[in-house]
Amino acid sequence: MQRVEAELNRLIEEIDYDEVTRLFASLNGGKRLRAKLILKIAKDVKEAPLLAAIVELIHAASLLHDDVIDDADARRGVASVNATDGSKTAVMLGDILYSKAFTELVNFDKEVAQTIAASVTALSKGEMMDVKMAEEFNFDEALYLDMLYLKTATLIEAAAKAAALLAGKDAQAHALYGRNLGLSFQIIDDILDITADEATLGKPAMNDFVEGKCTLPYIYLYEALQEDERERLLASHAKKADASETEWIKSQMDVYKTIEKSFALAAKLSNEAKEASREDEDLVNILETMIKRSY
Ligand code: FPP
Ligand code: MG
Repeated sequence: MQRVEAELNRLIEEIDYDEVTRLFASLNGGKRLRAKLILKIAKDVKEAPLLAAIVELIHAASLLHDDVIDDADARRGVASVNATDGSKTAVMLGDILYSKAFTELVNFDKEVAQTIAASVTALSKGEMMDVKMAEEFNFDEALYLDMLYLKTATLIEAAAKAAALLAGKDAQAHALYGRNLGLSFQIIDDILDITADEATLGKPAMNDFVEGKCTLPYIYLYEALQEDERERLLASHAKKADASETEWIKSQMDVYKTIEKSFALAAKLSNEAKEASREDEDLVNILETMIKRSY
């Protein structure tokens, strides 16, 4: 992973603007899931750390823009760039990181470059769907999973596939692994928004529903509730949290086991990822660490 951090620092230095160096240093690097995946799959490939740095730059850019879109004050436990330096700076920093990543990506093999590039169109589409869907209560599970795939899983799928292409491994199997890992990862994220506290999350707890996002535990809850209780749930949608209503929602989630049901889907997808990896020890470890962070 040090090689990835070194590549990241080199690319940032090449941008040659102190303001960018300062702002980039203020970001918390996060779990670096995508980079780890690339290093594990393309272990012995010389360009793997550079590809991993490119994907982390794209991911960082997408989060900078996402925090502006979501009006979020915190990211990974530190104040977001839009909170400290304003939305204009956050958007521009995202543009610089994103274009620098693509400047480097064009030097890769065409299929590798196309795989990553196409996933960025998909993730941008997913973000747009996410924002649109938050305008009304969404109780369509399939639509929700389509959006999750685009918003989160495509870049992870592309990272795994691109690394496999670099290493001359089975691209389709690795893409499937990445897709299922990505979906499972985001479902766990959605669960943690409800079950973890603010200190663990690095952002306010139970914030998804306040933002209008109906994640799986809410979709399953809506399905399980009686008509009048559904009205009660809908009344809290996309509004500043009211402590007693939040407690009621949590208690109903307990009654109908909607967290457990969501976790079961994450576990099923994780198992499918495990099968696609043909039990590769490194890839199974990544899956296990990811799924365990919920409990
Ligand atoms: C986080 O979702 C957001 C994403 C995973 C993708 C965001 C994508 C864009 C803004 C498209 C633009 C892309 C580039 C490269 C400039 P979330 O809000 O559900 O999660 P969070 O709680 O971590 O914020
Ligand atoms: Mg967000």
